[in-house]
Amino acid sequence: MKVAVLGAGHVGPVIARLALAAGYPVAIAGSGDPARIEMITSFLAPGAVPRSAADAVADADLVVLAIPWHRFATVDPALFAGKVVVDAMNHWPPAAEPLGTSEEVARRLVGAQVVKTLNHIAYQDMEPPSGRAVGLAGDSPAALDVVAEFLSRIGFEPVRVGSLADGRLLEPGSPVFGTFTKELS
Ligand SMILES: NC(=O)c1ccc[n+]([C@@H]2O[C@H](COP(=O)([O-])OP(=O)(O)OC[C@H]3O[C@@H](n4cnc5c(N)ncnc54)[C@H](OP(=O)(O)O)[C@@H]3O)[C@@H](O)[C@H]2O)c1
Repeated sequence: MKVAVLGAGHVGPVIARLALAAGYPVAIAGSGDPARIEMITSFLAPGAVPRSAADAVADADLVVLAIPWHRFATVDPALFAGKVVVDAMNHWPPAAEPLGTSEEVARRLVGAQVVKTLNHIAYQDMEPPSGRAVGLAGDSPAALDVVAEFLSRIGFEPVRVGSLADGRLLEPGSPVFGTFTKELS
């Protein structure tokens, strides 16, 4: 399974690094020319291939959205049809929105199967992941299976919390936000 990580800031390279360590081929993208992230990729996620977002997504089976929420409007929804998409984004600063980010992602990325996870753990707490539980939420059982397998392989213990709407349990303001222990289950 090929993985594309959109976002080469704080959290993207950590997820890329974990995926590489688990043996996945990984492409990583920022918002612009991949040459701009070559150096940071070589330091933070050696082995990941810097690509444009469009090229990274086109070749991927699983795409991780690790970009600021306010930048989500800049991604081209047409790229994501048929992909399993992990939404690791948050409303930040926390805001009382009528929908969770992942519900909004699923509405905009028509044809993608969206799973919310990895948003509720700070990037500096993602390594080492061994034994740490992470919640995942989604409406597609098949996509949940794919992402649960991905999370297990990169070292987390996946805990299913329900539908995409239930994924709001994982968002800022919820007691779960910032936790990564078996208390989730
Ligand atoms: N920081 C954490 O501990 C943490 C933990 C879990 C989840 N999250 C969530 O993860 C997301 C990213 O957080 P962060 O702290 O890593 O942010 P960050 O350090 O500001 O990094 C943002 C990255 O997103 C890239 N980007 C922006 N628009 C893009 C686009 N259209 N296509 C591809 N890449 C794009 C930026 O590239 P350019 O520089 O080229 O614009 C940059 O590399 C946020 O939604 C945050 O809530 C953060």
